[in-house]
Amino acid sequence: MKLWKGRFSKEATSSSDEFNASIPFDQRMYREDITGSIAHAKMLGKQGIISPEESELIINTLKDILEDINAGKIEFKIAHEDIHMGIETILTERIGQTGKKLHTARSRNDQVAVDFRLFLRKETAEVEDKLTELLETLKKLAEEHQRTVMPGYTHLQRAQPVTLAYHFLAYYQMFSRDRERFTDCQKRTNRLPLGSGALAGTTYNTDRRFLAKELGFDSVLPNAMDAVADRDFAIEFLSCCSICIMHLTRFCEELINWSSVEFGFVEIDDAYSTGSSIMPQKKNPDMAELIRGKSGRVYGDLMALLTLCKGLPLAYNKDLQEDKEPVFDAVDTLKNSLGIFTEMISTMKVKKEKMASAAKYGYMNATDAADYLVGKGIPFRDCHEIIGKMVLYCINRGKALEDLSIDEFKSFSDAFDEDIYDAINIVNCIKAKKSEGSTSFESVRQQLLKLDLE
Ligand code: ARG
Repeated sequence: MKLWKGRFSKEATSSSDEFNASIPFDQRMYREDITGSIAHAKMLGKQGIISPEESELIINTLKDILEDINAGKIEFKIAHEDIHMGIETILTERIGQTGKKLHTARSRNDQVAVDFRLFLRKETAEVEDKLTELLETLKKLAEEHQRTVMPGYTHLQRAQPVTLAYHFLAYYQMFSRDRERFTDCQKRTNRLPLGSGALAGTTYNTDRRFLAKELGFDSVLPNAMDAVADRDFAIEFLSCCSICIMHLTRFCEELINWSSVEFGFVEIDDAYSTGSSIMPQKKNPDMAELIRGKSGRVYGDLMALLTLCKGLPLAYNKDLQEDKEPVFDAVDTLKNSLGIFTEMISTMKVKKEKMASAAKYGYMNATDAADYLVGKGIPFRDCHEIIGKMVLYCINRGKALEDLSIDEFKSFSDAFDEDIYDAINIVNCIKAKKSEGSTSFESVRQQLLKLDLE
């Protein structure tokens, strides 16, 4: 009994226990914890640090515990403090003294680091799968909409005509880079911290390379102090999540706009919309808005972890226990957002006619009219001015450029001929793009073909 215990109430002690415990959330890593411990027990046995029989008994019991947790037969308690001590306590309850040997040549500091890296490796693969599904959906949609003409925007003002396929492929590129980023981040995550001990290594004849092989890590982290102290891999993962959800929010924002009466370009399926409790006519794009909103928490998770690690002295500090919840939250949010987003875009109805008619207005062929004059030998800057004046003339008369008579055209420049009408036809404007990566039908076809090679 503690000498000073008399003046402390029991409640104070249990609230401190509760404050200190991570088991309410880190139990999510029980599989990783057991996987790491099985590899560790195997290594201890192989190296003669514990006997082969002890190693086998520990491994088999850990496997039983895993099955029991999977079957919901084990309840973790605050008294376990964290998942590492929780599993070890249950192991020792089952096999007594032998269970107590598992923690030889190991600290919870390298244990938690290995659990976290294993967890992120699994989650990264799941995020990559979700991104692959999204990319496949985008590709399919792009294939379908190669001839769907729509306005392309800058400053949310109609700019130049493009195809919907081209717009979809722009997002394809962004999400494909997101997937690349996760894959790249994984290279740095998939390095082994186990065997580092608390911070200085251990006095046992361990085999960390064996551990790396057993656990599927690409290499062994070369400095034990770094291995237990840094969480840069998790910060990098959260950066990847943040960039990816940022891309999602841009697409969501467009779908929110596009599904308004003002645009009327798409109709989001009823299954991904909600109604209003007061206005019977409403059909709201809530899923898209929620994804846009949820980006805030993912950015927050990244900020939380960056701030957590800022100025932390080496090596392990208990602050680091706070690293898990932001990562859990971000990965759940991102996976759910990607899943619902993919379903939403694969079921939405595209209103091609609305897009095509919007593409007709807004002088989006003005650049092409200027290019036409360039073709007749006039310097681009002069052409820009001539067409600018023509647009103003048209605006004052409520006309489109193609509504002007040939005489009206000629009154602005002698260089205009009958072929101007073809040159500024919206579909021809798209076709005429020649640069690599443009919106022309041919370029989009090439872009799609290239995706098949990836
Ligand atoms: N629950 C702890 C965490 O998540 C495990 C490591 C504890 N290590 C220690 N030295 N107290 O960080």
